[in-house]
Amino acid sequence: MDLFDFAEQQAQQTERERYDELCRIINRNNELYYAKAQPEITDAEYDALYRELEQIEASHPDFVTPSSPTQRVGNDLTEGFRKITHPRPMLSIDDIFEHKPDKGETDAELIEFYTRLSSALGQTEPQVVIEPKIDGCAVTLMYRDGKLEYAATRGDGRTGDDITANISTIAAIPQQLPAGAPSVLEVRGEVYMPAADFDKLNEQRDAAGLPAFANPRNATAGSIKLLDTAEVATRPLAFLAHGLGMYEGAPLHTAEDFTQLLKDMGIPCNSPIIRAEGIEAVRQAVKDIDTLRRSLGYGTDGAVIKVADFARRESLGTTARAPRWAAAFKYLPEQKETILRAITIQVGRTGVLTPVAELEPVQLSGTTVSRATLHNQDEIERKDIRIGDTVLVEKSGEIIPSIVHVNKDKRPANAAPYSLFEAVGGVCPSCGEPISQEDGQVAWRCTNFTCTAQAAMRTTYFCKREALDVENLGGTVAEALVKNGYISTPLDLFKLSVEQLGALNLGTDDEVRRFGEKNATKALEALNRARALPLDRWLTAFGISSIGVTTSREVATYHRDLQQLAHSEYLSTLIRLEEDVNLYNTLNPKSRGNKGADKEALELQRRELKAAMEQQAEPYEKRGFLSLLPDGNNKLKLSNPLGSVSTRKLQAWFDSGAGQQVMSTLNELGINPISASYSETATASNGPLAGLTFVLTGALSRPRPEFERMITEAGGKATGSVTKKTSYLVAGEGGGSKRDKAVKLNVPIIDEETLLTLLKGEQA
Ligand code: IVH
Repeated sequence: MDLFDFAEQQAQQTERERYDELCRIINRNNELYYAKAQPEITDAEYDALYRELEQIEASHPDFVTPSSPTQRVGNDLTEGFRKITHPRPMLSIDDIFEHKPDKGETDAELIEFYTRLSSALGQTEPQVVIEPKIDGCAVTLMYRDGKLEYAATRGDGRTGDDITANISTIAAIPQQLPAGAPSVLEVRGEVYMPAADFDKLNEQRDAAGLPAFANPRNATAGSIKLLDTAEVATRPLAFLAHGLGMYEGAPLHTAEDFTQLLKDMGIPCNSPIIRAEGIEAVRQAVKDIDTLRRSLGYGTDGAVIKVADFARRESLGTTARAPRWAAAFKYLPEQKETILRAITIQVGRTGVLTPVAELEPVQLSGTTVSRATLHNQDEIERKDIRIGDTVLVEKSGEIIPSIVHVNKDKRPANAAPYSLFEAVGGVCPSCGEPISQEDGQVAWRCTNFTCTAQAAMRTTYFCKREALDVENLGGTVAEALVKNGYISTPLDLFKLSVEQLGALNLGTDDEVRRFGEKNATKALEALNRARALPLDRWLTAFGISSIGVTTSREVATYHRDLQQLAHSEYLSTLIRLEEDVNLYNTLNPKSRGNKGADKEALELQRRELKAAMEQQAEPYEKRGFLSLLPDGNNKLKLSNPLGSVSTRKLQAWFDSGAGQQVMSTLNELGINPISASYSETATASNGPLAGLTFVLTGALSRPRPEFERMITEAGGKATGSVTKKTSYLVAGEGGGSKRDKAVKLNVPIIDEETLLTLLKGEQA
């Protein structure tokens, strides 16, 4: 091999690496987009990655495998739905892109596509139809003998989820077709959410303390995959048909024949559909659709160009991913430069601090834009956004404006990097309590129970069934209570009178709607009952980060009442012991870090430390509240039934200003919740599985709840999902995703038999 071969190989190697990387990124984002409906990158960013992948594949056809993203359509399959095999695959469409004016013809790719069609069909001016590309979720409707047999998602293109019940909530979709219906008619189309309804839905969610949807497509994707059909019925979904799947009936020759059939059958059909012949007519139609689509009232991001004649479509056929007879022309989102005047911080209902760009107002897609979301600190750093910068603003999906990039040539000399934490001085701009970042999350949060910005959300949580179960004070009622100044923290509820609460206006100033005395009486009765609820329910109600229902119950097992928990010796001991165990393990004379150290001095220090720890641990160990164990290799291990993170978060909360405020208010109210499960000896923690967490997956020989009971009785915990903290994954046959996760996180995987051995208290 000479130098040039070598260089070539090296270049190939890096291209191969980039190719594999792109496949990984695109597959991951496909999953986020299709299955989770939570995209992390913009459509434009996705498109750029996809294009790069296509370019590499064009010069290296040998890289392409059937699992390449270009050979597959995305996958939206979700657990919990019956699967349906599509009689004909549900394909994707190949995208072609509008270019910026500085790079020649903006519609060069359109011209190229039409030219390709002409030569493939052997016609100079093939007839096509052009229609808006609806930004929704692909759904197929199967009618047999005029009756709706099922509705399904695209899934992986071959198999989809059966969402018939959810789709049946859309009134415009007929369950029964009129007389004369074809014996088999499979209609493909998009479920979407009209823009005005989307705004309304988000307002309602906001008022109920629920997170808003990012855009109508996400709202739609989330809605059609709900397992609760009654909830789907409250979502303003709509449907438009745009394609044909399986068909048995009077012959259809053209796109117009199909449209006519849909009209006759009363199925809502996409429009406008413009017929065009010859490149100039096609270009004009694509331009016309661009103008028209802005007044359609739902999201569109392109125009679909399809061969009009069905026999010609047949002759062109499809690739594994998309038909050769169609393309989606993607319009450039409108962008403009403006100046970033300031960054303000909004404290959301969930306590997340969101930076917002305050812009010099500009006109964009017909509306004035003066603010844009900056998402979080990471985003600001990634795009290096600074106050005073000239920024390029874009309205993606025509909904929420975002900042595409910074024009650094126009950056003022004094523009400094922005730090959210510093800008707010480390405290919540709403309540002044310290902010924090949850493990592995980029968002800064205020976790203060008494933060007024979060009052409605926290009150809703406080009143929910698993917490204090005060039905009818959550959601919109909590919102109204806060808005009208009745409460600014959940505990204020206990200071309300029947008269006050009854007079609460849930409507508007113009249209008053009172809460009413009857409801008020009920609510106050529930609050009265709540005073006597056990410790774990109150602890849940506080909404302390990482202390949910399960941990609250666990904590209550080890504390007599709230007063004792607030000054818990037990928590302090756990924290101190944990620190000491760490120190003990680092002082190991055999460990590499201690090479050359005075071994005897270390041993002496360790002996003293160990004796001190044993003394502290003993009273708790006797009661089965913790255990200090040898951990092989001359190390020690503390088994803490509450988990290290929860222990610290709990103590920090009771020590914080907010925690103390809560305690003193409860004192004033004469409330001191008692534990229902406290015992001087928490027997389970003596069990052979104490301190261990298990996840079950795959096919086991007995029902899962039975195994879960056995684990809990032996002092262990059984949880639903594999995390770093999982001690063992117990796997039967199958169990795909949990198994993968366990492998990734290095969680040991054991079989049923090994679990039984552990249950007997023997080593695995
Ligand atoms: S025709 C076999 N027409 O966009 C594909 N699709 O990104 C032929 N879509 O899977 C589809 N509006 O779900 C067609 N007017 C329209 C469309 C449309 C939206 C969806 C469709 C397709 C996806 C590809």
